[in-house]
Amino acid sequence: MTKRTSLRDIPHNTLFRQGDTFVLFGELFGRGYVNGLLDEARKAGMNIIGMTVGRRDENNQLRPLTAEELAEAEANLDGRVINVPLMAGFDLDAPAGEPTPTALLADMTLKNWQEFKLDWQQIERCRETGVARFKASAAQAMAQLDGMIADGTNVYFAHTMAGGIPKVKVFLAIANRVYKGRGERFMSSRELLDSDLGKLILMNFDEVTANTFMHLIDASAGIRARLEKTGGQARYSAYGYHGTEILIGGEYLWQTYSNYTQGYAKMRLESVASAAWEKGVQATVFNCPEIRTNSSDIFVGVELSLFPLLEALKKEGGTAWAQQQWDACQALLEDGIQLDDLLARIAAYNGDATSASFRNFEAWPMDNTPALAEVMIGTSEDITKLHKERKELITDLLSALVLEGTGPLMFNEMSKPAAPVIWLNHDVIARLLNQNHAA
Ligand SMILES: NC(=O)c1ccc[n+]([C@@H]2O[C@H](COP(=O)([O-])OP(=O)(O)OC[C@H]3O[C@@H](n4cnc5c(N)ncnc54)[C@H](O)[C@@H]3O)[C@@H](O)[C@H]2O)c1
Repeated sequence: MTKRTSLRDIPHNTLFRQGDTFVLFGELFGRGYVNGLLDEARKAGMNIIGMTVGRRDENNQLRPLTAEELAEAEANLDGRVINVPLMAGFDLDAPAGEPTPTALLADMTLKNWQEFKLDWQQIERCRETGVARFKASAAQAMAQLDGMIADGTNVYFAHTMAGGIPKVKVFLAIANRVYKGRGERFMSSRELLDSDLGKLILMNFDEVTANTFMHLIDASAGIRARLEKTGGQARYSAYGYHGTEILIGGEYLWQTYSNYTQGYAKMRLESVASAAWEKGVQATVFNCPEIRTNSSDIFVGVELSLFPLLEALKKEGGTAWAQQQWDACQALLEDGIQLDDLLARIAAYNGDATSASFRNFEAWPMDNTPALAEVMIGTSEDITKLHKERKELITDLLSALVLEGTGPLMFNEMSKPAAPVIWLNHDVIARLLNQNHAA
């Protein structure tokens, strides 16, 4: 992907209406991106149906939700949840009687992880087992879904799945250093990716983040064909990440968080959408801006790109409402700290030669370096300290705004999507927010 298609104009919903169905392919977590889409689906009067990743029992076996968990999930979603466990990835899968990848990692320590070798034939058997399990579950979930969608109506499938980090203690320690460490605690993302552990993680990311989109499109082929035959349509969106254009020095420039280890899987996700598109399926990956969610909080510094959204709000015609956002952000800072000074700090960070050298689209996803960790994690920690409360950050407010803005942009664009891969940058998000909040 060398050329970027960015959404520049605000789209309108010309397809989805009352009686249509919105299917959340993933489980709803508190602050997650998909809340923006759910708001739009509700506004359009669509029936909401969700999925679950299931839960693990005491023997690590995947199980459906209990009646109580299901009721809670449905109340949280305000819709029906199909109770078939759709946990993707193969970190806890293996043919009967054989060890899972997680079990194979049990002897790994912080001292030996770089030399630690995995049995790749065994890993491949586990991968096949995990994929077969997921595909069978997806088929079962789609069979249930089929009976819940009327002929001639439209369906919007929203894929949210991303992840795949095996739950082994040693990796948490390594991740803490790769994503949060600087100075003596710095750890190179390249060393991680060159290790067998890193290779396993990348394989698992591919399964969770990318291939599940393909399995969704394949497993719902029957529903799609039936609806198309009876006058309805099917659409598929997924959340990508491949950097974002934000305001730097008064211009919208592409930048990225580094090292975004999931980047290879996100590029695979883009190719899943392109392959489906070529077969006439309207599947689009929306490359969305960095926000703080349960999934992204491990990446210290990912939130730095959010601050220039405030400037974008002003540049894109913001009036009283945009000023209210500035005031609300100012109010979160310690007494005596000015928002303008904080923004000057962000401008200095973006102007720094080290961070500028990472704005290289072709080389994405670039490895981290000690110099980047110093400036990025350092700036992140310094800016957090300027707040009154560590638990009430400007980036919480700005994340909520981005989430609110991406919802209608994605939802409406899916009436007639322009391409299989579309970037949503700060310009169009700011414009949409200003428009929706105009007095
Ligand atoms: N947060 C960001 O900065 C950002 C930026 C661009 C794109 N995205 C993407 O947006 C999507 C939603 O992420 P989010 O940040 O809102 O966080 P989130 O935690 O709300 O969502 C993560 C989703 O992945 C699912 N998931 C996790 N592990 C899974 C597994 N093993 N099998 C199946 N499903 C699994 C969860 O059920 C959940 O629906 C993801 O695809 C993410 O990569 C996030």
